[in-house]
Amino acid sequence: MNIVKLHATTSTNDELKTRFRESKLPHLTTIYTIEQTQGKGQQGAKWISEKGKNLTFSILLSDLPLKITPFQINKLISVTIVEWLKIQLQIQARIKWPNDILSVQHKLAGILIENSFSGSQLSHAIVGIGLNVNQEVFDGLPKAISLRNLTGREFDLEELLISFLNMLENNLRNSSEVAQNYNNYLFKFNQSTSFQSKKGIFEGVVKGTDEEGKLILEVQNERLTFALKELKWIY
Ligand code: BTN
Repeated sequence: MNIVKLHATTSTNDELKTRFRESKLPHLTTIYTIEQTQGKGQQGAKWISEKGKNLTFSILLSDLPLKITPFQINKLISVTIVEWLKIQLQIQARIKWPNDILSVQHKLAGILIENSFSGSQLSHAIVGIGLNVNQEVFDGLPKAISLRNLTGREFDLEELLISFLNMLENNLRNSSEVAQNYNNYLFKFNQSTSFQSKKGIFEGVVKGTDEEGKLILEVQNERLTFALKELKWIY
């Protein structure tokens, strides 16, 4: 395993991207940092994480199975995080489509995957993960939670990272089987919940995802699919 530890960087995703552009790095190279000064979240948001308290890291996936799609990678990573939390830490978590990991309905981790294509084939992916570990207070983020909040324990960040990477390495060997567990861990699967789209607030039952990664909802006996930007969860 090639793990690079940095005291500070802007964003581990950007750092890994730049280093990979400059020299060929091995598959599964991971950069993690004590302090991320310009952490990136989904859709242009910022990822703010207290210095030294949490895991902020990025993994290079360059040896990808042929024809794997961005959503299959997303499923593999999401399922791996949830299964790792369950097996290693006895924490129950759910995947809030498309990129959040929740526990007790609060956000424990976020995922930001940046894909690169060579023609129509995915050539590599930079998988960025922010996992709230030892931080106790999240000012202005009422829906955030950490492992410490959930368990009362303090965790060793490097130990957690290595244990997660081991599980990911294993899961990559049978990525399609792992990804099949996605619906089992999907937040609100087969349950009705509120959403907001450009048409307003409505109730829908979560029925899964399609191949492209759109969310399938049953709304008044009709199956509708929604892309990431078309939908906001209200929970
Ligand atoms: C989100 O929930 O919006 C996604 C958050 C992803 C945060 C991680 S922290 C490590 C990696 N580097 C970044 O700049 N972002 C991701």
